[in-house]
Order: sequence, then C-alpha cells, then structure tokens
Amino acid sequence: MSIVIKDAAGIAGMRTACRLASEVLDMLTPHIVPGITTRQIDQLAHDYMVNVQGTVPATLNYQPPGHPPYPASLCTSVNEVVCHGIPNDIPLKHGDIINIDVTTIKDGWHGDNSRMFLVGKCSIAASRLCSVTYEAMWKGIVKVKPGARLGDIGHAIQTFAENAGYTVVREFCGHGVGQKFHEEPQVLHYGRPGTLEELVPGMIFTIEPMINLGRRDIKDDRKGNRPYDGWTIVTKDRSLSAQWEHTILVTDTGYEVLTLSAGSPPPPDFVTQSAAVATVG
Ligand code: MF3
Ligand code: CO
Ligand code: CO
Repeated sequence: MSIVIKDAAGIAGMRTACRLASEVLDMLTPHIVPGITTRQIDQLAHDYMVNVQGTVPATLNYQPPGHPPYPASLCTSVNEVVCHGIPNDIPLKHGDIINIDVTTIKDGWHGDNSRMFLVGKCSIAASRLCSVTYEAMWKGIVKVKPGARLGDIGHAIQTFAENAGYTVVREFCGHGVGQKFHEEPQVLHYGRPGTLEELVPGMIFTIEPMINLGRRDIKDDRKGNRPYDGWTIVTKDRSLSAQWEHTILVTDTGYEVLTLSAGSPPPPDFVTQSAAVATVG
C-alpha cells in the first residue's frame, strides 16, 4: 500500500468531483434553518446528487470494517457530535451548530468536503468555535507544498487551535482520496514539524480538523439502553465540536483547493494576505 500520485486525467476527474461536492453544500445552505430535520437535509442532498448532478453519494451504504453500512447520503453532526452523525427526525433549533459532510463520486472520482452551519442565532462561544476551526483548517492548507511534510500540517493546526483554547480530536484524521474514498496517507491534525511523509506534486488528500470546545476525548454515542448506531461519535464531556473539510491537491508550487464553488466561504485574511505578498514579491 502506498500513496497514489494522480496524473493529469486523475486531477481533472478530481477537480470535477470536488467542485460538485462543494456545490451540494451550496445548494443546502439556504435550507439550514430552525425547523428542518437532518433527514430532510439528507433527502434534499440525495435527490440533488442523483437527479441533478449525476453523482453517487459515497457515504450511502459505505461499510468499512467494523461498521454497519452507513444509511445516508451525507453526515450531519450537531453540537456535541464530533463526526459521522446519522440524519434523523429531530428538527434543528436556534443556536445549534451543524457540520454537514458530503462526498460525491463522479466518474469514479471522490470529492470530499464539509462545512459548519450556524442555525439561527448562535452564542458567541459557538460561532467563535466554528470560525476558529475554519481558520485552523486553512492554517494547515497553507503549509501544503512540495517538500513540506505531513507533520507541518498537523503542527500548524494543533498550535493554532490550542492557542485559541480548544482541543484537537486525535482519533480521526484527513486522508488520501481519489478512486477510493479513504486512501493513504493519514493526515493527522496534530504533530511535529518536519516529521512524517514528504509532500509530492499530484498527491490529493483531505484536511478536516475536528476541534472541541472542551476536552479532546470522544466516545461512542450510547445513550441509556438504546443500541449504538455504529457511527455517531460525540465529545466525552458533551462540549461542542466543530469541523471543516477541504480536498487539497499538491501542485508544483504549493496547493490547489479542489472543493471550491460559487458558495464557498472566502479564505481567512491570512491566506489572501500571503497570496498577495507572493504576487507582489
Ligand atoms: N466524509 C467523511 C470523511 O471526511 C467520512 C464519512 S464515512 C460515513 O472522511 F460513512 F460516515 F459516512
Ligand atoms: Co474526509
Ligand atoms: Co468528509
């Protein structure tokens, strides 16, 4: 097993799949309001992917070892849910935060991305967690260039998140992505600079930090005598958790964010500033 380096055709296929994955989130954005259920969100996304885009929802019936088949076309992780929340019939309410994670397959290529949404009016604490997590993802993205190492990405994310007073989930990571949903390498969101795999043009992987307001520990979502659904992960202390995800290509000179579309939130100021400096310089 090793890291797949994508050729020009693979990169073209990934650009399309990733843009489409981002466009699913664009389509959903106006619907993420108090009162809608996550099952309704899933239905909207499923119909759009299958009937409008002609994409395949990668999560539907996805079954890695040790899990039951995933039963939905996206993941909806609300408040203390860290990741892999399964859509259900509980309406979203004012003040909730929700991560929606969409993976499309187009012509065999996988595009994987997620965003946070604030439902109605949220607390300052909740909205700060979401925006700091967005910036943390971008702190990792801007490290991507040939010759850099995966440890540089993890370190940048971890120091930024921890300096803001938050914690980084260790049990889940970014991943290579392409003709398979989850490929090598693992992209940890913590670590030491100068360590781990060296980046090479043509690598494609996700960066998808999960950042907690409280402690970093997680657990299965077992409540009372309800059987575990096999997927939902929550913070052990039930504190809020946020996550953002992009799929990134290593280019000859740096990075290209593949999961972009008309509705993508703009990068943080520090990204545009360094890009502007690079252009002027
Ligand atoms: N999209 C998730 C990721 O970023 C994986 C979801 S797998 C599922 O890797 F089965 F939970 F949907
Ligand atoms: Co992913
Ligand atoms: Co994802």
